[in-house]
Amino acid sequence: MVDQTTRGAAQKPFLRALAGETLAKPPFWLMRQAGRYLAEYRATRSQAGGFLDLCLSPELACEVTLQPLRRYGMDAAILFSDILIVPHALGQKVGFAEGEGPRLEPIRDAAALARLDPIGLHRRAAPVYDTVRLIRSALERDFPNIALIGFAGSPWTVACYMVEGAGSKEYMQVKEMAFGDPALFAKLLDVLTEATIEYLSAQVQAGAEAVQLFDSWAGAVPATHFDAWVVRPTVRIVSALKARHPGLPVIGFPRQAGHNLEGFVTATGVDAVSLDPSVPVSWAAKVLQPKVTVQGNLDPVLLIAGGDALRRGVAGILEGWSGRPFIFNLGHGIIKETPPENVALLTQLLRA
Ligand code: CP3
Repeated sequence: MVDQTTRGAAQKPFLRALAGETLAKPPFWLMRQAGRYLAEYRATRSQAGGFLDLCLSPELACEVTLQPLRRYGMDAAILFSDILIVPHALGQKVGFAEGEGPRLEPIRDAAALARLDPIGLHRRAAPVYDTVRLIRSALERDFPNIALIGFAGSPWTVACYMVEGAGSKEYMQVKEMAFGDPALFAKLLDVLTEATIEYLSAQVQAGAEAVQLFDSWAGAVPATHFDAWVVRPTVRIVSALKARHPGLPVIGFPRQAGHNLEGFVTATGVDAVSLDPSVPVSWAAKVLQPKVTVQGNLDPVLLIAGGDALRRGVAGILEGWSGRPFIFNLGHGIIKETPPENVALLTQLLRA
């Protein structure tokens, strides 16, 4: 099996930081760096038709992945896709209604769970792997120092969408299943854990050099269940990926995990942890950064505010974290109202 994870690993600043090196200038990328805040994204998106069509059209998905790099030259590209490709690839009906966010045919019982089709996963996800191949060869050609990140949602966060059938504030349906029928919920997490391993492993074979697991709703998990719903599936994914692809760096993003962050970092074996804006920089420098590379954690709204507020926010993070392994990022995705010129200012501040 040809494994491209280590190709160029010694040079690319992003991979060096993931390997535990402290760089004089921290590498940076931004979650949701491709997206609606860029006019060229909106143009490509309208060419594709729907959002899912864009995710499943390799040439167009490759194009939007490269768009922010041409403007700002980040140190990493992230595959343009979505965490809901995994439910789609398992055969669940997934749609994105314009202006309403995702809609899925909800899974609420054993019969619906049994209808998922893990055998068809790679066939349905194949366009994503093609996208990874296209991006990787475009990077080798035009941006040889930019690394390629593959990604997936974590089982808990993806399960939230699969059971709720949409975004949610209370997570009532998914928690009702998890508390009321723990065996059924454990089975759903298992299906997702194995699918995520397969899906990420195929991205790595296609050319992804690091992977990030997005657990956007980790903050909704009660402390009593954090181990079962978040930590254990992550341990399984990290260890299976590292067994198949020795040296592959894995970034965990258990958003708003608060008091569970230290345990998460210790137990899961991730190489880096991405932190949301609620995490105090000084605490993470003391407790997390000696163990793993930290990534984050500028409030995305500072990219809308711009000016001195943005300058101060960036300076505080650089001051707190530059002495140890560190990748600059936002604490969550870029908001669509973000003025592109503020991203240019951020780039200047980081490269100064
Ligand atoms: O970071 C990147 O540039 C890569 C692309 C990426 C997208 N989604 C593109 C996208 C990544 C890494 C994701 C992950 C994702 N998707 C998460 C985890 C990270 C997070 O933000 O918490 C989640 C929870 C989703 C699910 C999802 N996808 C939602 C809730 C929505 C609708 C939100 C909205 O703003 O409308 C999406 C759609 C989506 N995914 C868009 C993009 C650029 C907007 C779609 C559009 O063009 O209309």
